[in-house]
Amino acid sequence: MSNYNFDKEINRKNTSSLKWDFVEERYGAKDLLPMWVADMDFASPDEVVEALVKRAQHPVYGYTGTTDSVYQSVMNWMKNQYDWNISKEAITFSAGVVSGFTTAILALSEPGDKVLIQTPVYTPFFDAIRNNNRELLQSPLRYVDGTMQIDFEHFEEQLKQDVKLFLFCSPHNPGGKVWSKEDLLKIGELCLKYNVVILSDEIHADLCLPNYTHYPIASLSNELAQITVTFMAPSKTFNVAGIQASLIISENEELLQQIQTKQYQIGFHGLNLFAIEVISASYDHGKPWLEELLQYLQQHVETVQTFFKAELPEVTVIAPEASYLVWLDCRALGYSDEELKSRMIEKGKMAISPGMMYGPGGEGFIRLNIGCTTETLQEGLKRVKQALTN
Ligand SMILES: Cc1ncc(COP(=O)(O)O)c(C=O)c1O
Repeated sequence: MSNYNFDKEINRKNTSSLKWDFVEERYGAKDLLPMWVADMDFASPDEVVEALVKRAQHPVYGYTGTTDSVYQSVMNWMKNQYDWNISKEAITFSAGVVSGFTTAILALSEPGDKVLIQTPVYTPFFDAIRNNNRELLQSPLRYVDGTMQIDFEHFEEQLKQDVKLFLFCSPHNPGGKVWSKEDLLKIGELCLKYNVVILSDEIHADLCLPNYTHYPIASLSNELAQITVTFMAPSKTFNVAGIQASLIISENEELLQQIQTKQYQIGFHGLNLFAIEVISASYDHGKPWLEELLQYLQQHVETVQTFFKAELPEVTVIAPEASYLVWLDCRALGYSDEELKSRMIEKGKMAISPGMMYGPGGEGFIRLNIGCTTETLQEGLKRVKQALTN
């Protein structure tokens, strides 16, 4: 039986929502259906809303700190979700995951140092490296049998070039790939061999769909824990990205200390008071909601697969194994990226993320956000078809 109604349409307009209120600014057209930026159209778990309301009702909003109970919530969550034992000392906080890994890049490398990523990948990976004058090295991911794979030979060749940091996306955005334990161990072995620190962005980890298991790379051995900094958050999981509450985790004291020093240098002095409430409320009470959400998202993935098979078989669906972003391979249709983009906007009336924004390997793809009601999804699919056919 269902306890949560993910079918309920919630009007998000005029809430300063990036997804809904900034479409015209971003896409240059009005009345587009927004299926782009990665948040969901669902209400967060009741317990999260209640914790925020309760705190908001206390009328004094002065400085706050993170109490032991917040650390305990994080430690319990990691233990229960991933059988991952972390100490309180291994945890620190950042507003967002992007600000977390960007700070880590600043802390753990110097201008000119090489930072490796696997492409295509979430756009801020490129920005965090380039904007800070580090050298960007790329290793391409391959598509085999409708799923992403790592080209380990290429990956190792890149690591040999005196790489300092590997910025890893696990699970992968936009490909939705949950990396297997074998893949993770192989990555770990190579990073240990070439003395490379792993910055592992695991923001989508909690959103593994039924039958997939996420392993935090740092949890796989003590050696890997010592070369890894993990970035996680309740933000994607419980749809609270606007609250800005994220975690930086590393059992390597020195690495974590360097990151904390950099945070102080750039003036970050801790989370805002609502972020503190959200971490505990989500991790302590959000699991039943999350379990139902994942069932709902799984149905959406199947709906997307069925739709394209029947209506537009030229499009290959790279079905996500985690999260709510579907990577659609439109290459067989032969449209240029410009054409794909303009068709989506002009013919489909859709705000969708064009694949090329994720770097090499994203050409000819689009990313569809299915974190919406089934009704919106159906409408979106209709519009995608309209956009892509003549
Ligand atoms: C892989 C990845 N990392 C980080 C973020 C954003 O994190 P934050 O909003 O906490 O900076 C996203 C959002 O889509 C993401 O997909």
